[in-house]
Amino acid sequence: MSTPPTPRPVKKAVFPVAGLGSRFLPATKAMPKEMLTICDRPLIQHVVEEARAAGIEEFIFVTGRHKELLEEHFDLQFELEQTLESRGKTALLEKVREAELPAGRLILTRQAKPLGLGHAVWCAARIIGNEPFAVLLPDVLMKGQQSCLKQMVETYNKVGGNLIAVEEVPRAETKNYGIIDTKDQTLPVMPVAGLVEKPEPDKAPSTLSVVGRYIFQPELFEYLSAFEKGAGGEIQLTDAMAKLIGKQPFNAIRFDGKSYDCGSRLGFIEANIAYGLSDPEISQGVKEVLKRYV
Ligand code: G1P
Repeated sequence: MSTPPTPRPVKKAVFPVAGLGSRFLPATKAMPKEMLTICDRPLIQHVVEEARAAGIEEFIFVTGRHKELLEEHFDLQFELEQTLESRGKTALLEKVREAELPAGRLILTRQAKPLGLGHAVWCAARIIGNEPFAVLLPDVLMKGQQSCLKQMVETYNKVGGNLIAVEEVPRAETKNYGIIDTKDQTLPVMPVAGLVEKPEPDKAPSTLSVVGRYIFQPELFEYLSAFEKGAGGEIQLTDAMAKLIGKQPFNAIRFDGKSYDCGSRLGFIEANIAYGLSDPEISQGVKEVLKRYV
C-alpha cells in the first residue's frame, strides 16, 4: 500500500479583527474588542501566541476602521523598551517583547464593510494564495495544556484536508454557533457530514459546535467568492465550509481543554477568573477574592 502524501504545512493564519464588538458596547466604542484584557494580555495576543505555538509564521489581520491599536500592540515600542531597560525592569521588558512580531510577519488587509465572517476570511485570499491556512477567531480563547491550534496542526499533519475544532454545547444554545453533523461522535477524528450556521435547537444536527479554530485548503476561497448570503443576511464562513464537504476531506476534532467565549460578558469574566487562577503571581489572591464573593 502506498503511503499518503504529506500534507502541505500550515504556516499562515488569518485573524478576523474587523468586527464592531457590538456585544461589548460601550467598552468597545473607541477601543477594538480584541484589545480587551484577559489577565495580563489582550485577547489578540492570546490567540497570536496560540498560533505561534502551532508553528504559524505569517499573521494576517483582517482589520477595519479604528483598529490601529492592534498593529501598534505587536510593533516595537522603542521608548517604552528603553525606559524599562534603563530602569533594570528586565521581567517587564521580556513581557513587552513577547508581544512583538518579527519583521515582515504581520500582514494587514482590510474589510471595509461588515459583510460577515466568510467575507472577512475572503479578504485574505490574495495573501494566502494557493496554500493551506488557519483561521483563529480572537473572541474565543482556548485554554488547555497545549495550544489548540498546535493540537489541530498535529492532527492535520496526519490526515490533511480541512480540519475544525468542535466542542459540546447545551442543545438550547445551538442557535449561537456553527453546528456539525457527524455519524460517529466517539471517533478522535470525526468526518464532518454537514454544517449548519446557528440552527434552532430542534433543527440542529448535533450539539457539537464549531469553536472558532479552523484549518482550510485554499479551495475554500472558490466558495467564499460567490458572496452568498446566509444566516443573519451575512456571508457565512460555515456555508462555504459546507460546500467543501464531499469534495475534500473535512474532519473535526475535540480540543483537549476548554473554550471561553470572550465576546460575551459572562464568558469574558469567566476567562479572567480561569486565566487569573493559572497565573502563579495572582492565583492565591484570585481564590481569596472569589471566596469573599461566593
Ligand atoms: C462565528 C461562526 C460560528 C462559530 C462561532 C464560534 O459566529 O460563524 O460558526 O460557531 O463564531 O465562536 P459568531 O460568534 O461570530 O457569531
